Amino acid sequence: MVRFTTRLAPAAGLVALLSCPTVAQAASSNVVVDGTSFALNGENVSYRFHVDNSTGDLISDHFGGIVTGDIPADIVSSINGWVGEPGRVRREFPDQGRGDFHLQYQSHTVIQGKPELPGLPATFGTGDDVTTLTVRLYDNYSSVAADLSYSIFSKYDAVVRSVNVTNMGKGNITVEALASMSVDFPFEDLDMITLSGDWAREAHPQRRKVQYGTQGVGSSAGYSSHLHNPFLALVDPATTESSGEAWGFSLVYTGSFSVDVEKGSQGFTRALLGLNPNQLSWSLGPGESLTSPECVSVYSNNGIGGMSRMFHRLYRNHLIKSKFATSDRPPLLNSWEGLSFNYNASTIVDLAQESADLGIKLFVLDDGWFGVKYPRDDDNAGLGDWTPNPAKFPHGLASPVDQITGLQAANTSTDLRFGIWVEPEMVNPNSTLYHEHPDWAMHAGSYPRTLQRNQLVLNVALPEVQDFIIDFMTKLLNSADISYIKWDNNRGIHEMPSPSTDHKYMLGMYRVFDTLTTRFPNVLWEGCGSGGGRFDAGVLQYFPQIWASDDTDAMERITIQLGTSLVYPPSAMGAHLSAVPNQQTGRTLPISFRGHVAMMGGSFGLELDPADMPADDKAALPGLIKLAEKVNPLILKGDLYRLSLPEDSNWPAVLFISENGSQAVLFYFQTAPRINNSIPRVRFQGLDSAAMYKVEGKGVYSGATLMNMGLQFPFDTDVGSIVVFLEKE
Ligand SMILES: *[C@@H]1O[C@H](CO)[C@@H](O)[C@H](O)[C@H]1NC(C)=O
Ligand SMILES: *[C@@H]1O[C@H](CO)[C@@H](O)[C@H](O)[C@H]1NC(C)=O
Ligand SMILES: *[C@@H]1O[C@H](CO)[C@@H](O)[C@H](O)[C@H]1NC(C)=O
Ligand SMILES: *[C@@H]1O[C@H](CO)[C@@H](O)[C@H](O)[C@H]1NC(C)=O
Ligand SMILES: *[C@@H]1O[C@H](CO)[C@@H](O)[C@H](O)[C@H]1NC(C)=O
Ligand SMILES: *[C@@H]1O[C@H](CO)[C@@H](O)[C@H](O)[C@H]1NC(C)=O
Ligand SMILES: *[C@@H]1O[C@H](CO)[C@@H](O)[C@H](O)[C@H]1NC(C)=O
Ligand SMILES: *[C@@H]1O[C@H](CO)[C@@H](O)[C@H](O)[C@H]1NC(C)=O
Ligand SMILES: *[C@@H]1O[C@H](CO)[C@@H](O)[C@H](O)[C@H]1NC(C)=O
Ligand SMILES: *[C@@H]1O[C@H](CO)[C@@H](O)[C@H](O)[C@H]1NC(C)=O
Repeated sequence: MVRFTTRLAPAAGLVALLSCPTVAQAASSNVVVDGTSFALNGENVSYRFHVDNSTGDLISDHFGGIVTGDIPADIVSSINGWVGEPGRVRREFPDQGRGDFHLQYQSHTVIQGKPELPGLPATFGTGDDVTTLTVRLYDNYSSVAADLSYSIFSKYDAVVRSVNVTNMGKGNITVEALASMSVDFPFEDLDMITLSGDWAREAHPQRRKVQYGTQGVGSSAGYSSHLHNPFLALVDPATTESSGEAWGFSLVYTGSFSVDVEKGSQGFTRALLGLNPNQLSWSLGPGESLTSPECVSVYSNNGIGGMSRMFHRLYRNHLIKSKFATSDRPPLLNSWEGLSFNYNASTIVDLAQESADLGIKLFVLDDGWFGVKYPRDDDNAGLGDWTPNPAKFPHGLASPVDQITGLQAANTSTDLRFGIWVEPEMVNPNSTLYHEHPDWAMHAGSYPRTLQRNQLVLNVALPEVQDFIIDFMTKLLNSADISYIKWDNNRGIHEMPSPSTDHKYMLGMYRVFDTLTTRFPNVLWEGCGSGGGRFDAGVLQYFPQIWASDDTDAMERITIQLGTSLVYPPSAMGAHLSAVPNQQTGRTLPISFRGHVAMMGGSFGLELDPADMPADDKAALPGLIKLAEKVNPLILKGDLYRLSLPEDSNWPAVLFISENGSQAVLFYFQTAPRINNSIPRVRFQGLDSAAMYKVEGKGVYSGATLMNMGLQFPFDTDVGSIVVFLEKE
């Protein structure tokens, strides 16, 4: 049995320094080879490490702001301590103990561009965008090789690392732990930030001091989960939203994971991100390899906001493959909160007509449309039987869908589009599928199968289950004019046949996602996992948007959406205006407030039945839909600045600035009334100091004035919200 704890070193712009200087020149300006040291250089980041000649070990030197030329090596000789040398050396790829392994530098290559990761989602780019250094380590006792792959996206100050381990020997080995990324920071105080929560309160940022010992987050639910996101930031204790150093780490993975931060006895801070070692036990026969998911690391000296903007730009341009990554997100109406399971072919056409009259351009039919012998009229039955319910759709889906797509959004020549909900990875015991294939449901031998929401998880590790999903989805998409899919996933995995099923499931799921999104590139795919239970960079490779939370209360949503934006671009968030009192919190908020919060997500929609709305609220909808469409290009492509946060202020504020800097839109909220409080100022960020900006309803001010003095926007209501456009003159 082999136990690995591998860690990744991030780098921006690679400089590989090896013993053969001429080889170095063959690479790009981002890569310099000289001696036995490697340096990756981005615009504002350096990542450096070298080979220790006496041990063959890879030693970390630096990950942070630019360093140039010769750099001083860590002084390790004048300190000691009980742990000896292993406790005071910063390593790129730490293994556990020194008994099993001695992975030594063997060779390296540098190429322009970035190879795909076999079977896994991964950032991509051309030779102009990214350079990849691969370092091969080899242990000649166990005949295990490890290829560490470092890709530097220099314009994003991002270093992406993954590792593959190959069994070069004649016996079998089992990999018990394999991290994607490992980085050792020198002796300094750091804070760590993670995103934690639960169903309906996802992505609440948690900031704490890194203490001695190991601290971290993870998921063992089979999916990335609501509980902790596969993300970590390490920041200087003085770092704020807009200033100071911040290092962000994001795993491009959707399964169980672990994030461990350890401050060791001699003060180094090590961060390890990767597959959850409790659910791995991956066996490798002779010649076989295991490839880790990749971890994206970014560095910013412009605070937490700067870190987020790096992730957003990189993910928009080099992770999300969909043609809709930054365009064409029609305002939609989703039937769930309005109709629940209670509809039929004629009532959905009525709802679609009402939606079109308001200016909606995509009608989405949620749960409840399928099941023949076990009709899906509540959550007891039907999952797995993806045939339209004949009682609701006596003539199938095509005819009502044609009626719906024959409608036009009010006062436009835009045809209404039709979308539908599925939950392909799940099965109800009350289903024909389960009766035919009980073994397809995830189970551990003859132990009882734990139901959650009356359902079980299909074992997507099985090729026959993958083919079943690909086949029924292909038939469904060919059966009617469907241009949007909401792909839900409403429970975690409890029983597994073996620990390695977890990762095998993910490889199977990615095969399904890849096949379907390649086969249907004109479909807009939205991910969902009981809300934000699968909001991760792995899903974003295939689906350009993800439903951020089942909590549609706009006040709660400010926190959830801003938390999610720590790493994921606003373009990726689905956000809906729903009826009041809110179904999750019972709170009643003004329609404009609900609309303004929802339009900060890339996919704006309504989740209600307009027929049930008060007349005033209904009358406000067309204007809010038009406003959502107007701001949408800035949300999809612009840079986000979190000017003030709901956890710190009664007046949260968010600014989106267009890519070319010529337009901006401010979202500003009052979350509770303050009597006789002086009116706070919104201080802008990210503007051009010297430029003049026309601020809607306020006048013309310089960027310097807006950023250093700010503007006041009084609220004369209880809770309130405003949206203000800025135009560079
Ligand atoms: C390590 O070995 C390389 C190649 O033989 C050599 O160029 C370099 O100077 C050595 N470094 C040290 C610190 O000994
Ligand atoms: C492995 O390599 C080291 C360093 O080159 C050498 O000293 C050792 O004898 C080798 N071990 C085996 C089993 O080949
Ligand atoms: C690097 O820093 C400079 C100066 O602050 C800035 O103009 C530039 O945009 C930064 N580059 C990146 C990739 O953030
Ligand atoms: C390695 O594993 C395979 C598959 O489980 C098995 O057939 C084979 O006998 C094993 N080989 C050794 C040397 O244990
Ligand atoms: C492992 O990495 C090496 C070097 O990048 C590559 O040649 C090999 O194909 C990889 N194997 C797998 C299974 O990813
Ligand atoms: C659909 O439901 C409505 C209201 O319950 C009912 O009046 C109508 O006859 C139903 N139509 C079909 C096609 O079942
Ligand atoms: C469409 O135009 C009519 C007539 O001008 C207007 O009353 C209605 O509000 C408009 N609807 C939308 C959704 O813009
Ligand atoms: C199957 O459906 C029936 C009727 O709705 C329900 O009472 C029962 O609990 C369901 N069984 C399971 C295993 O969900
Ligand atoms: C800048 O971008 C905005 C939004 O994408 C666009 O409307 C505008 O025409 C562009 N302005 C310039 C000067 O390129
Ligand atoms: C203080 O608040 C009360 C209640 O809103 C209001 O009547 C009064 O005018 C305020 N005083 C000032 C000085 O604004």
